[in-house]
Amino acid sequence: MDRAVAPPVTAGAIEAGARAVDATAAAPLLQVERLSKRFAVAGRRGSFLHAVDDLSFHIRAGESFGLVGESGCGKSTLVRLLARLLDPSSGRIVFDGVDLAELGSAGFARRPERALIQMVFQDPSDSLNPRFTARDTIREPCLLLAGMDRASADARVDEVAAQVGLPLELLSRFPHQLSGGQKARVGIARALAPRPRLLILDEPTAALDVSVQAVVLQLLDRLRRELGLTTLFVSHDLNVVRLLTDRVAVMYLGRIVEVGDSAEVFAQPAHPYTQALLSAIPGHGPRVRLAGEVSSPIDPPPQVCRFASRCPLAHERCSREAPPLQAGAAQPGHPPGSHPGSHPGSHPGSQTGRAASRSPGHDLRHDREHLAACHVARFGVQWPLPVLMAD
Ligand SMILES: Nc1ncnc2c1ncn2[C@@H]1O[C@H](COP(=O)(O)OP(=O)(O)OP(=O)(O)O)[C@@H](O)[C@H]1O
Ligand code: SF4
Ligand SMILES: [Mg+2]
Repeated sequence: MDRAVAPPVTAGAIEAGARAVDATAAAPLLQVERLSKRFAVAGRRGSFLHAVDDLSFHIRAGESFGLVGESGCGKSTLVRLLARLLDPSSGRIVFDGVDLAELGSAGFARRPERALIQMVFQDPSDSLNPRFTARDTIREPCLLLAGMDRASADARVDEVAAQVGLPLELLSRFPHQLSGGQKARVGIARALAPRPRLLILDEPTAALDVSVQAVVLQLLDRLRRELGLTTLFVSHDLNVVRLLTDRVAVMYLGRIVEVGDSAEVFAQPAHPYTQALLSAIPGHGPRVRLAGEVSSPIDPPPQVCRFASRCPLAHERCSREAPPLQAGAAQPGHPPGSHPGSHPGSHPGSQTGRAASRSPGHDLRHDREHLAACHVARFGVQWPLPVLMAD
């Protein structure tokens, strides 16, 4: 049993909670620029699976950023790159002004940023060492990453256990002596222990019983607000992303197809894939069912829209020149379209191919209005998008 019971998460409970940080006014803490990860395909020399392909986005300090997309689209690969558990094939990961992609894994291990970016994994049973007690597990990053002595580390374990609602008498238990909810709290406490600035949550409740999921989600939302954390929240549960995030990015086959304020994206998705994805939410309008096969992520032609094989609006032109998904460099907080340009390289046939600014303070913005206008002008689709196919 998960003993620290809190009321269930509800839209009212979360939306009523005052935001501790005005994320919209904050500078980017994380700036991702043209990030790619390709895996060599076994037995096919020269072939690569493009798991993460030329992604650019930013996360502001204090912001709750969501990442959604269907299974296999590259969400976990992306967050593992950001936490530097994987080396990128190319691109930049600028965290608080430092390009982490430039540092090799060994170099990153010695950097203070290693303590400042922490991850909560999907399955606490898999991510906890079975030979470590809860106290050992939470203490380890304090000793190894935050450089605390044993006494300070133990004091920090007590503090963070209280923050996550883990009774002190449970700290001497091994993972197999804890419930799913308690193990989830240990995983969260371990991530919080070295005082991170960016907390990455990769499907943090997917392995939990439904009754515990709501409690853990509410805990995460409270901690985020109270501690002023910046969070990257990956989830299959679109309703949860809608409630818990300020902005959201939608991924399809290794690429971000849309990014924007969560409220806007959920109210009026600009990309046909987003529309189909969101239509799966009960009560979110008629269900859009996609026909066609998902195209292969192995050696995808760069000029073809990845969604063309399933898009109800696909035009013959989409296989030659997919609309650009990112407008040029804009300062965070500026209205969409106020800094015209095009995302370098993402769309060979797009406007100009001008390189956008690479300075870390700038935003390679996925511009929803730009995307919409592009679809309307180039393909003559109706805007707002029509309901594509209803049940
Ligand atoms: N180490 C690896 N070697 C080869 N291919 C990999 C590796 N890791 C991931 N992939 C492939 O990269 C693609 C993206 O996988 P990833 O795990 O990032 O997807 P995901 O969006 O997290 O999926 P899910 O929602 O199911 O967790 C998949 O096609 C996967 O098979
Ligand atoms: S209309 Fe064309 S470019 Fe736009 S999402 Fe559909 S297939 Fe892709
Ligand atoms: Mg995953």
